[in-house]
Amino acid sequence: MLLERFATEANIFVPESALKWNQTEPQPGQFDFVEGDSIAAYAARKQMVVHGHTLVWYAAIPQWVSQLTSEQEAKAALERHIAVEVSRYRGKIWAWDVVNEPIEPDDDLENSYRNSVWLRSLGPNYIDLSFRLARAADQRVPLGLSEYGIEYATRTSRRRRQALLTLLQKLRDQNTPIDCLALQSHLDAGQVLDHVELTSFLRDVVKLGYRLLITELDVNDVKIRGTDRERDAAVARHLDEYLDIVFSVQRPMSIATWGLSDRSTWLREFYKRADGSPLRPLPLDADLNRKPMWAVLARYMAQ
Ligand code: XIL
Repeated sequence: MLLERFATEANIFVPESALKWNQTEPQPGQFDFVEGDSIAAYAARKQMVVHGHTLVWYAAIPQWVSQLTSEQEAKAALERHIAVEVSRYRGKIWAWDVVNEPIEPDDDLENSYRNSVWLRSLGPNYIDLSFRLARAADQRVPLGLSEYGIEYATRTSRRRRQALLTLLQKLRDQNTPIDCLALQSHLDAGQVLDHVELTSFLRDVVKLGYRLLITELDVNDVKIRGTDRERDAAVARHLDEYLDIVFSVQRPMSIATWGLSDRSTWLREFYKRADGSPLRPLPLDADLNRKPMWAVLARYMAQ
C-alpha cells in the first residue's frame, strides 16, 4: 500500500496541501488541523520528520484572505495564522517553508516580486515580517524561503536567480531570521542545466550563510521520447547532473520528492505527453517498483 511505502522508502514526510492556508484556516480564526495532525501522528509513529509546507503563499488561500486589502487587516491575519500554525507544530517540523514563491519576473513588478495579496497589502516587507513571526512562534525550527525555476540556461531562470539572490542578500542585510533556501527542484529532463551559473548562484547563497534544502523534487519527462526504460534513464541522468551541482556546493539538509510514485504526481494535471502515456517523474513507478531515479537519490544520500 502506498501509505506504508512512504515509511519504508523515506524518513521525511511532506504534506502536499494539508498545511496550506486554505486547509488550515478556511475562515478567519477558525483553524482546522485534522489532516495536518494525522500526518504528524503518522510521521511520529514511523520515526519520520515532517516538512512544513507552507505558511505564506500567493496561492491556496481562502477567499477571505484573497480579499484582504488594508495593511492592518493583512498584518493581523498573518500574525494570527503564523503564530497558531507554527506553535501547534512546534518541535514536530523539520523545517518550515515560511514564504513560498515570492519571485515572479513575469509579473513585471519592482525587484521581480510576485504579485500577491501580501505584496499588495503589506509591500515587500511582508517577507521579513513573516519570518519574524515564525521565529517568535518557534525559536529553533529552521526557517526557509522556497522558490522554483532557477536551474536552467534560459532567460527566465537567469532572471529568477538574479532576483532571488538580490532578495536573499536584502534579507541578510535586514537580519531577517531566515536559515535556508528551499530549492523546490521541479526539474525538466528536456532542458539544459546551467552548470556554471547555477553553481555560482548556489555558492553566493551559501556565502550569505544560508543552508540548502531540496523540497519538491520531481523530473518532468514530458518531452523525453523513447521507451519507458529510456525515459527513466534520461530522468535519472538529469537528476544525477543536478545533484552533482548542488552537492558540489553544499550537501543539502534534506531531499524530498513531490510525491513518491508515478501513480500520483501533481504534474499529470498540467503536462500531457504527445504519445499520451503517463509521466514518469518520481522514484517509484506506478506499480511501486524502484526506478533508476531511486538509485541516484540513494547514492547521493549515502554521501
Ligand atoms: C501543488 C500540489 O501538488 C497540487 O496538488 C495542487 O493542485 C497545487 O499545488 N510548488 C509548490 C507546491 O510550492 O505547493 C505545489 O503543490 C507545487 C508547486
